[in-house]
This record gives sequence, C-alpha cells and structure tokens, in this order.
Amino acid sequence: MASPRIAVFPGSFDPPTLGHLDLIRRASGLFDSVIVTVLRNAAKKTLFPLDDRLAMLRSAVADVPNVEVEAFEGLLVDFAARRGAVAIVRGLRGGADFDYERQMAGTNQHLNARIETLFLVPTPVYSHISSTLVREIAAVGGSVAGLVPPIVETYFERRHMPPRTQSI
Ligand code: PNS
Repeated sequence: MASPRIAVFPGSFDPPTLGHLDLIRRASGLFDSVIVTVLRNAAKKTLFPLDDRLAMLRSAVADVPNVEVEAFEGLLVDFAARRGAVAIVRGLRGGADFDYERQMAGTNQHLNARIETLFLVPTPVYSHISSTLVREIAAVGGSVAGLVPPIVETYFERRHMPPRTQSI
C-alpha cells in the first residue's frame, strides 16, 4: 500500500484568519493528511500565546477529518521530515508575499531537497486578509468579523473584557 501523502501547513497564526482556513481546506483536499503547525518561538512576541493559537486552530478545523494541529520548534524541514511530510504548503496572496516566500522555499529546499514547497492561492474574497491587519483593526476597537473564524472573534472579545471588579 502506498504511504500516505502528508503536508505541513506552517505559520505563526497570530491569529488564524479566514484566509488561512481557506488554504488549509484546499490543502486537505490534495493530501491524505495535513498537519497545521504553529511555530513555537519564545523570542518572537505574539499577541496570542501559543496555546490560544493552537486552540483556535483546532476548533476552526474540527470539521475537517484529515487535518491536525501541532506546535513545532527548530527547523521546519526537520519537523516535516519527522512527520513523514512530502510537502510544505504556503499561501500566496500576491506579489508582496512572493519575495519572502521564494526566499523561504529556497532555504527549505537547500536544507532538505526531498520536501517540496507548494503555493496555494486563496480565493479572491480572502486575498486581502492578513493577521497583521486583523491585529491592527482589533487594537483600535474595530470589528474583525468576516476576517477571522468566529472562534477567533471570541478570543478577541475575551481580551477586551474589562477586568472583573472584586466583590466583597
Ligand atoms: O506565518 P509566518 O510567520 O509567515 O510563518 C513563518 C514560518 C513559521 C513558516 C517560518 O518562520 C519558519 O518555518 N520558521 C522555522 C525556522 C526555519 O525552519 N527556518 C528556515 C526556513 S525560513
């Protein structure tokens, strides 16, 4: 029997967006299984802690049976090789993404030529969404509805909840 075709879909996911979800679903149709993998990097400051990002992703992909969510640290290609993945899937929204993605794909190819990078283009309705802009909108009190999965909206709402007053 042929071995299962596994892909990793890596990122920071701070927070996951509807664009990410669109790409994860597309990738899940191309591979036997997709591991959405979140970079654990203590040196990088993120809005949401790793556990929240993992929980948001797990909830958002709960209905897709061949997708799992895991943290990784160290080199992405080492994680991918350990999991038996044949491909790294990344999204390309437009020209602005291209130089960064090409550099990263080339570096990963140098590090492990057996793992291919595949680029998927999100559906046009999501091509303007970025985690950075979502954070910016939320930081000034704007609505992120329609940009992120509903579960992520609830995490933003929780962050903005006023502290409970202590009852005596
Ligand atoms: O969502 P992001 O921040 O664009 O994702 C970047 C990520 C996590 C895919 C990238 O930084 C990464 O793979 N980091 C792990 C370290 C590594 O393998 N570096 C060499 C290839 S660039």
